[in-house]
Amino acid sequence: MSDTTRKILVTSALPYANGPIHIGHLVEYIQTDIWTRFQRMRGHQCFYVCADDAHGTPIMLRARQEGITPEELIEKTHREHQADFADFAIGFDNYHSTHSDENRHYAELIFERNQAAGHIATRKITQAYDPQQEMFLPDRFIKGECPKCGAPDQYGDSCEVCGATYAPTELKNAYSAVSGAKPVEKETEHLFFKLGDFEPMLKQWTHAGHLQEAVANKLDEWFEAGLQEWDISRDAPYFGFEIPGHPGKYFYVWLDAPIGYMASFRNLCDRIGLDFDAWWRPDSDAELYHFIGKDIIYFHALFWPAMLSGAGFRAPTAIYAHGFLTVDGQKMSKSRGTFIKARTYLDHLNPEYLRYYFAAKLGSGVDDIDLNLEDFAQRVNSDLVGKVVNIASRCAGFLAKRFDGRLPASLENPSLHADFVAASEGIAQLYERREFSHAVREIMAWADKANQYIDEKKPWVIAKQEGREAELQAVCGMGIELFRILMAWLRPILPATAQKAEAFLGIEPPGWDSIATPLLDHRIGRFSPLMTRVDPKRVAAMVEASKEDLAAGADAAAPPSAGSIEPIAPTIEYDDFAKVDLRIARIVDATHVEGADKLLQLTLDLGDERRTVFAGIKSAYAPEDLIGRLTVMVANLAPRKMRFGVSEGMVLAAGPGGKELWLLQPDAGAQPGMRVK
Ligand code: 2FM
Ligand code: ZN
Repeated sequence: MSDTTRKILVTSALPYANGPIHIGHLVEYIQTDIWTRFQRMRGHQCFYVCADDAHGTPIMLRARQEGITPEELIEKTHREHQADFADFAIGFDNYHSTHSDENRHYAELIFERNQAAGHIATRKITQAYDPQQEMFLPDRFIKGECPKCGAPDQYGDSCEVCGATYAPTELKNAYSAVSGAKPVEKETEHLFFKLGDFEPMLKQWTHAGHLQEAVANKLDEWFEAGLQEWDISRDAPYFGFEIPGHPGKYFYVWLDAPIGYMASFRNLCDRIGLDFDAWWRPDSDAELYHFIGKDIIYFHALFWPAMLSGAGFRAPTAIYAHGFLTVDGQKMSKSRGTFIKARTYLDHLNPEYLRYYFAAKLGSGVDDIDLNLEDFAQRVNSDLVGKVVNIASRCAGFLAKRFDGRLPASLENPSLHADFVAASEGIAQLYERREFSHAVREIMAWADKANQYIDEKKPWVIAKQEGREAELQAVCGMGIELFRILMAWLRPILPATAQKAEAFLGIEPPGWDSIATPLLDHRIGRFSPLMTRVDPKRVAAMVEASKEDLAAGADAAAPPSAGSIEPIAPTIEYDDFAKVDLRIARIVDATHVEGADKLLQLTLDLGDERRTVFAGIKSAYAPEDLIGRLTVMVANLAPRKMRFGVSEGMVLAAGPGGKELWLLQPDAGAQPGMRVK
């Protein structure tokens, strides 16, 4: 290794092992992959590791819901994730799991060292408990009526109807989202990581160039608010690692998740014979980078360096946070078909299109990026197909037909070539600083220059004139040489296309330094189109298929959140059922409710009386579509006072929510007021 060769270890955030990879995730994996491929082209020793984040309550419950063990669930997801990443050319050196021996080892080690140094506290807390399932409930698993507006079925932390935030204890008529049982308060002993012990170290570290400026400023706000002790334990039943010396207590998933970076690297070290400690000891000369989304900064920029420091390991060299993905200017949405799974994308489109588009949008900051589907097709078609690939197709034919694929022995325009070569280091610096959109702009400006050169030289005119053979070869050879440089610059972004280009050129994968050496007096292969245009019909079909995913009831398409768990209804006796007075009702009026995002106000005719009901069905129905139709209502539900008025019953609808909500409707002949039995 030369003196200038850096040792670089890079990670992306570990995806949860209970849901599929989607295009929102891919922003980060593509960003990280481009950067690591670039570092390898520079000749550095660069390893890129990742793993599935396999622990926690949602994974335990998801497995239960699917009737399989958590181990089976994470195994299945692991295979799916790996296939998705491979098909997007995400070039991990290792893809591991947090549910692994290595991770248990480092989680225990880091915990025990911090404990020995006095950074772990133990104290009793009171938590909501599901007496039926005999488990403590995380906030997201407690539901009930919003304490502010009375909307039913709201999560324990915030109301989706009025936006209020609150503690789960404030919910009215709270129930467990796991069993439906009423939660009780129960005392339990938990372990805490004393983050405050690390305040001086963290204040210094967060301002020592390891973070983006916007992130460091955010951290200052958190320092001002005060660093709280961090609850790192969870009670059984829990899918995770039991804490040594604390039977029945498990490490909280977020404690062992970042340790998964180490575990994956350790697994790689054992596989290929690297010295793990040389990369993780405090005085290591290796560099360590974590690419993450801006939502998980707290864990990576505070807890993680503190835990590492308390256990005698090195801190990260830098943490690079990025923004979220919007599609056509809005949050990804299942009903609009813009919540696109990696696999659905792959079924319709070339992954290199998305790699290019994200690169063309990504900078070094934390701003959100937008995938505009129309712009996506235009941009890829005009830049990659229209500019870059076009250069090769304009020149290759003449060389093949007239010169047996032989490139000339000298450059037709050495000065233009020198200009290209001189630009190479600047482009490298943009990659290094993760200014990918800027790098792409530069590269496309040089592609324009290459096309301009061909336009001016007009090889198709030269080809028709006698005695200009050498000139034709020189011009086409120059065009191919410029194409070679452009493809080398784009290689970190378009590895598969670059590989095809290298096969056509008959060259080895280039390092950054070799870009400067022209390809002369060399025989190239037959040209076949390296990339076809984006077909907007395929884009539309992908969006349609993403809608279908949902219609097929594939709840696995949901983001990995606790919210996608449906309560498992407890068995009830017939007498309980008989208490519910279900009636046919006619909707005689339906109106919007001012200030409510989700509610419609319905007037229901029950034959001999009228009721007002506020129903959370606005996302699926316009008021005018409802007026006149029959539905089923719970007629004996106690009236509930809501912010907008009193709701005197409830209408019945099926489906996961949003646009996918279907109001029950009886067959023809049913009349308002009839009892449903
Ligand atoms: O937010 C998430 O999706 C987490 N699974 C990320 C974990 S990153 C690291 F800490 F493991
Ligand atoms: Zn509310």
